Amino acid sequence: MKICCIGAGYVGGPTMAMIAKQCADIPVHVVDLNEQRIDAWNSDQLPIYEPGLDEVVREARGRNLTFSTQVDAAIAEADMIFISVNTPTKTFGIGAGRAANLEFVEKCARQIARVSSGHKIVVEKSTLPVRTAEAVKRILANASTNASFDVLSNPEFLAEGTAIQDLLAPDRVLIGGESQAAIQSLVDVYARWVKKDRILTTNLWSSELSKLTANAFLAQRVSSINSISALCEATGADVDEVARAIGTDSRIGPKFLKASVGFGGSCFQKDILNLVYLCEHFGLHEAAAYWDQVVIMNDYQKRRFASNMVKTMFNTVSDKQIGMLGWAFKKDTNDTRESAAIYVCRDLLLERTRVHVYDPQVSETQIRADLEYLLRDESGELSSYKKSLIDNVKVVPDAYAAAKDSHAIAVMTEWDEFKNLDYSKIYTNMPQPAFVFDGRNILDREKLSNIGFEVHAIGKSRPTVG
Ligand SMILES: NC(=O)c1ccc[n+]([C@@H]2O[C@H](COP(=O)([O-])OP(=O)(O)OC[C@H]3O[C@@H](n4cnc5c(N)ncnc54)[C@H](O)[C@@H]3O)[C@@H](O)[C@H]2O)c1
Repeated sequence: MKICCIGAGYVGGPTMAMIAKQCADIPVHVVDLNEQRIDAWNSDQLPIYEPGLDEVVREARGRNLTFSTQVDAAIAEADMIFISVNTPTKTFGIGAGRAANLEFVEKCARQIARVSSGHKIVVEKSTLPVRTAEAVKRILANASTNASFDVLSNPEFLAEGTAIQDLLAPDRVLIGGESQAAIQSLVDVYARWVKKDRILTTNLWSSELSKLTANAFLAQRVSSINSISALCEATGADVDEVARAIGTDSRIGPKFLKASVGFGGSCFQKDILNLVYLCEHFGLHEAAAYWDQVVIMNDYQKRRFASNMVKTMFNTVSDKQIGMLGWAFKKDTNDTRESAAIYVCRDLLLERTRVHVYDPQVSETQIRADLEYLLRDESGELSSYKKSLIDNVKVVPDAYAAAKDSHAIAVMTEWDEFKNLDYSKIYTNMPQPAFVFDGRNILDREKLSNIGFEVHAIGKSRPTVG
């Protein structure tokens, strides 16, 4: 058995590293068109920051784990080919802003069809709309070679920041397919380290739809508690107390009830929009509107955070300085896709604020690229005015530098290091009144208030002062 994986990203890299670690006798070849990314996978500076990933890669790389750009050769040699390429929301044409862009998946299928011989199992690891496997099968069936194929769906449920833990001990592994023999081959791989009762097998379509549904349900919990956070701020209730009170109900459960500035990441929004598009496609308009609201709520939460900052700081932040702590969409990852920080920063820049950003894992190049992407116009152009706004961003090497001379600090990512900063020192280096806006509810509000800060957090009302 030989495995190949097309796509060395946040999913392909860690999942294949785990398979290679657990199955030392199976050669695993991860390929990507992006040479820079592959070079990084072959270096000491991996392209992805994920706790525990270094050790897993170090154990398997050079033994049975290989990274290269030799896509054709890797496909030709493999018995099982995982497709783990990106499936972003379409930005053009039919379904723009909703449907998944399947261009990369289709190109993979065509490439597999072109270079394969013998029998291959093709595994969809990317998150795909229901019935994509049908399209993949049709493309493969038209292979000009005499190769034959089985197609399986094996969506990935890892969460960035805890990917290695999630891969080591998954709640479940889901495998959808038609051929029992093909399903069994993949079950046998996972069964090396995952208990049999955690490996679920279904038909292809249930497997594809389950991944979209899981992300929609998770995002819905975040938007639900965030909607309550707005009500808490208006009424004097405390959102963490409400979350604890409802989370102890075993029918609701405690997880994913943390109010915040809004969810980010490459998947939640894209997958819900994809679900909305599917519902609309089948004429299920009420079902589409129901799920759409989760995204609308999330946009509202991000906008609300930035506008609360402006309102609180005497209705003007122009020519003021804000220290932003965190840029990644969550802690323990360097992934910034759809991070709330980008949107809040954009809103502040439009108010002509100067923003000093610090994130422990995100590079300056990435931060600038994220802002340029968000501020460009419909034709993809970045106007000189928008460019000049981005010039108001400075990326600094630590949290103290971000806070120095800032009128306010805004916590955008829940990195642990932000909890234990020397806030007394920070306070003395800020103009007064010094504001703190905690977008993740991780700071000790009482301690900070005692130092002298005016602290604003999500879903917490502030007592009216005099
Ligand atoms: N990131 C997550 O937390 C997560 C979790 C579960 C599922 N998913 C799903 O997994 C899929 C991949 O996500 P990701 O975050 O790893 O994306 P990513 O953008 O980090 O990686 C995708 C990689 O595929 C490569 N690629 C694209 N087309 C290619 C081709 N034809 N040949 C070779 N390489 C090609 C790109 O260069 C890129 O490096 C998506 O469908 C996503 O929805 C992501």
